[in-house]
Amino acid sequence: MNRELHTRIVGVGSYIAEGVLTNKDLENMVETSDEWIIERTGIRERRIAPKQVVTSDMAAHALKQALAAAGLGPNDLDMIICATVTPDKPLPATAAFVQQKIGATSHCASFDIAAACAGFLYGLSIADCHIRLKKAKYIGVIGVELLSRILDFKDRNTCVLFGDGAGAAVVTGDETGRGILSTHLFTDGSLTGILHVPAGGSANPASEHTVADRLHYVHMGGQEVFRYAVRYLSEAAQTALKANQIPPEQVDWVVAHQANIRILNTVSHRVGIPMEKFVLNIERLGNTSSASIPLALNEAIQDGRVKDNELILMTALGGGISWGSALLRW
Ligand code: ACO
Repeated sequence: MNRELHTRIVGVGSYIAEGVLTNKDLENMVETSDEWIIERTGIRERRIAPKQVVTSDMAAHALKQALAAAGLGPNDLDMIICATVTPDKPLPATAAFVQQKIGATSHCASFDIAAACAGFLYGLSIADCHIRLKKAKYIGVIGVELLSRILDFKDRNTCVLFGDGAGAAVVTGDETGRGILSTHLFTDGSLTGILHVPAGGSANPASEHTVADRLHYVHMGGQEVFRYAVRYLSEAAQTALKANQIPPEQVDWVVAHQANIRILNTVSHRVGIPMEKFVLNIERLGNTSSASIPLALNEAIQDGRVKDNELILMTALGGGISWGSALLRW
C-alpha cells in the first residue's frame, strides 16, 4: 500500500524540577491567597529550578529522555529545535548548548524559536516540514522555560501564574497513517504589547534605568490575554478538526497549552470536547509556557492514557500573540 509520509512522535521526555513553590509560599511574597489563585487559575503549586540549573540543562535532560524512549542516541539527530523565551543567553541559541550537552554531532543543525507558549507547536510544525520533505530523518523538538528567572516576584499579577519545566519530543517519518495530520499557525503582531518583556532587546537595551524600572520582567495585561486565549485556542482547535473533517467527538485527547483552568473550561465548552479528555498538569506545574504541551503529553504516555492510533488535538497560544493547533494520530 502506498501511504503518505507523516511525521510521528516516537519518543517523549521531560524535566520537572524538585523545588515546589506553593500558593501558601506565595502568600508570604505578595498580597495574594491560596483561594484566589486556585479559584482564578486552577494552580496549586509550580516547580522552580535550582539556581545552578540553566535552560539548556533542563532541555538536554528532556531531550535525552525522549531519545532513550525512542531507542535512539544523540548521533541519530539531524536537527534540534528549541522553543523558548528564556534562553541561556541572548547569543548564541540555547539549542547549541543543548546539542553540546547531549553530545550530538555537528551535522545536527540546532536553533531556537521564540513563539512563547505556542513555541512547541511552532517547532513541531517546522519539524513536520523537514521530515516530510525528507530533509531530516530524526528531529528533537523541545519546549523549555525557566520563567522564574524573568518573573517579578513583587508583581502578583504575573508571579503566581508561571513555573519552570521542559518537555521534548523526537519525531521521524512514518508511512502507516500515524503521526501529525495537520498543523496550523497564526500570529497577530498588533497585540505584542499585551504580553512582553519590555527591556533587554534592541528596542530598550539593558541599562541602570531598565533594571531600576523592573523592565526585564514579564509584563502582562491578564484580562486581554485571557480574552484572546479563549477565542483563538478554540478557533485553532476547530480549524484543525475542520481541515481533517473530524467531528469533536472523535478526538480522544486534548493536549492544550495550560495557562488557566478557566480558559481550558471555556475552550472545552466552545469546541465541544469534555474536560475529561483534556490532559491537565496546570494544578501541579502552573503555566510552563512552551513546555506545557510536551510535559502533559509525556505524562499521559507514561501513565498509559494515550493508546496507539488515538487522535490527539493540540492547541496553544502565547506572547506575540502567536497561536496554533495540531492534530495527531498517535
Ligand atoms: N492575588 C490576589 N489578587 C490578585 C492577584 C493575585 N495573585 N492578581 C491580581 N489580583 C487582583 C487584581 O489586582 C484585581 O484587583 P482590583 O479589582 O482591586 O483591581 C482583581 O484581582 C481582579 O483582577 P483581574 O485581572 O480582573 O482578575 P482575573 O479574574 O482576570 O484573573 C488572571 C487574573 C488570572 C491573570 C487572568 O486574567 C488570566 O489568567 N489571564 C490569562 C493570562 C495568562 O494566562 N497569561 C499567561 C501567558 S499567556 C498564555 O499562557 C496563554
